[in-house]
Amino acid sequence: MQKMEYIPLLTTASILLVLVNCPKFSTSQSLTSPPCLGGTCSRKTRCFRGQCHTYRPRCCDGAVTDYFQSDQFEKMFSNRNSLEAHAKGFWDYHSFITASAEYEPYGFGISYLNSNFFGTKEVAAFLAHVGTKTSCGYKVASKEPLTWGLCYNKETNSNSYNYCDENYKNTYPCAPGVAYYGRGALPIYWNYNYGEVSKDLKVDLLNHPEYIEQNATLAFQVAIWRWMTPIMEHQPSAHDVFIGYRKPTKNDSLAKQVFGFGATMNVLYGDLVCGRGDNESMNNIISHYLYYLDLMGVEREEAGPHEVLSCAEQVAFNSSSSSSP
Ligand SMILES: *[C@@H]1O[C@H](CO)[C@@H](O)[C@H](O)[C@H]1NC(C)=O
Ligand SMILES: *[C@@H]1O[C@H](CO)[C@@H](O)[C@H](O)[C@H]1NC(C)=O
Ligand SMILES: *[C@@H]1O[C@H](CO)[C@@H](O)[C@H](O)[C@H]1NC(C)=O
Ligand SMILES: *[C@@H]1O[C@H](CO)[C@@H](O)[C@H](O)[C@H]1NC(C)=O
Repeated sequence: MQKMEYIPLLTTASILLVLVNCPKFSTSQSLTSPPCLGGTCSRKTRCFRGQCHTYRPRCCDGAVTDYFQSDQFEKMFSNRNSLEAHAKGFWDYHSFITASAEYEPYGFGISYLNSNFFGTKEVAAFLAHVGTKTSCGYKVASKEPLTWGLCYNKETNSNSYNYCDENYKNTYPCAPGVAYYGRGALPIYWNYNYGEVSKDLKVDLLNHPEYIEQNATLAFQVAIWRWMTPIMEHQPSAHDVFIGYRKPTKNDSLAKQVFGFGATMNVLYGDLVCGRGDNESMNNIISHYLYYLDLMGVEREEAGPHEVLSCAEQVAFNSSSSSSP
């Protein structure tokens, strides 16, 4: 496990997220206003990454439910309730939809850029990461390895290490007896990540990380939070790079990264899977993506060329802190 410092994303990037991400949002506070805390934004705004954001209902039309139905979810995760599954009965379509709805106002699954709709592909991409991280297909590889997503809802060797970083003992003190191992649909690790997501979701996951193991809606919400939120300062989120909102400039550290599916692996796992040529972990994530695109009725050509799908030649973002492949 490679450990990374978590650097809170401050105002500039929050504004970038809003202005560049989805034109239907604006920031209701200026850059110099104090950051919001849970409950301090007005009724029509929402606290996200420390800033109040206003919903402007004129862009990003629709909802994930417009194109993603429960029968597609069932096909994608067809073995999740099988005898071999470790989280039998835990995950369901409804939980994913409820969690998605929380993030639709930020463009999750309903974004357009230059009149291209990215929603369907984004849900397939997000779920590809989920399916890979929660799969037990490697154990039953002879039997359709791509159908074993959502087999787990927490890291397997749960009690071997507590993932408590004492450098954060003032901001995100570890609760006694609690271990911050990977939990959720896109597992988060470490006390500082649990602390950050607690603030944004207004659920005390720092003291009660076990809530994620008990509530599938929350387990998906935490995962979508990871997808929508930059991991380190001056980095885009997985959502941002998937849609390609941010155009790299010449001197940009992102200049050597192509936007698209490959870049989402780079944001989430950095050099654990990217910039290593034809890596097996990377190819496994790509295979899940292509499989889910098929099940959602998206033509493979729409997934783009190999250089967009892959991160084999990308310069790694170094952000492998919150998840490992
Ligand atoms: C599960 O989590 C969701 C989202 O945080 C929350 O709205 C819901 O009340 C929780 N359900 C239970 C049974 O605690
Ligand atoms: C890019 O970086 C070089 C060298 O650090 C600098 O001289 C140049 O002004 C920068 N260009 C821009 C557009 O920031
Ligand atoms: C791919 O990456 C994983 C994780 O870092 C590593 O264990 C594996 O050896 C890599 N495979 C290749 C072919 O580089
Ligand atoms: C990534 O980390 C490696 C070693 O940890 C370091 O050598 C490299 O400069 C880092 N790259 C970036 C872009 O920060």
